[in-house]
Amino acid sequence: MKLQPAAWAAVCAAGIATLGAAQKVVGPEEFDRAMKTIGASIDAVDEAVAASSFAPAKTPLALARQVLASTRPVWETAGEPDAVRMTREAVAALDALDKVLSANTVDAAAVAASVRDVKRACDACHEIHREGDEETGYRMKTAAR
Ligand code: HEC
Repeated sequence: MKLQPAAWAAVCAAGIATLGAAQKVVGPEEFDRAMKTIGASIDAVDEAVAASSFAPAKTPLALARQVLASTRPVWETAGEPDAVRMTREAVAALDALDKVLSANTVDAAAVAASVRDVKRACDACHEIHREGDEETGYRMKTAAR
């Protein structure tokens, strides 16, 4: 997906609204909004990294990290400790990516490997806790439901 500057501004506004409305994401609708923001942010990271714009990639990355971290209480409330753990691991993968992007001399191969780790961390949770598809919409799958 190619994010035009205007689209990216909208993503930021949505992200800030998500953060502003509730520091902690607590319900399924907020969670859905949070995931959409995280997805769009990671798309923007991908785009910046593809253009070797390593420093600018850190802005959407920070938004994704902040919003993802704010989703943890949803899983705590749902009694899904493995999802709490996967959230923590995905946040750690985002932090690791930030670290390689912050190096004095950025190692493009290390960045690519780190981006793959991030995607793996996202998908690990999606495989278990996400149902639906792009057409019908995505939903949360919890044992508690
Ligand atoms: C701990 C679990 C978990 C982690 C970690 C996680 N997700 Fe999700 N994600 C979900 C669930 C559950 C849904 C479906 C619920 C929804 O969309 O309302 C979802 C939905 C999504 C969607 C679809 C949103 C929509 O409705 O169109 C995107 C995009 C997405 N995630 C991106 C990401 C990215 C990128 C990461 C990693 C940086 C990530 N997710 C990490 C659980 C997770």
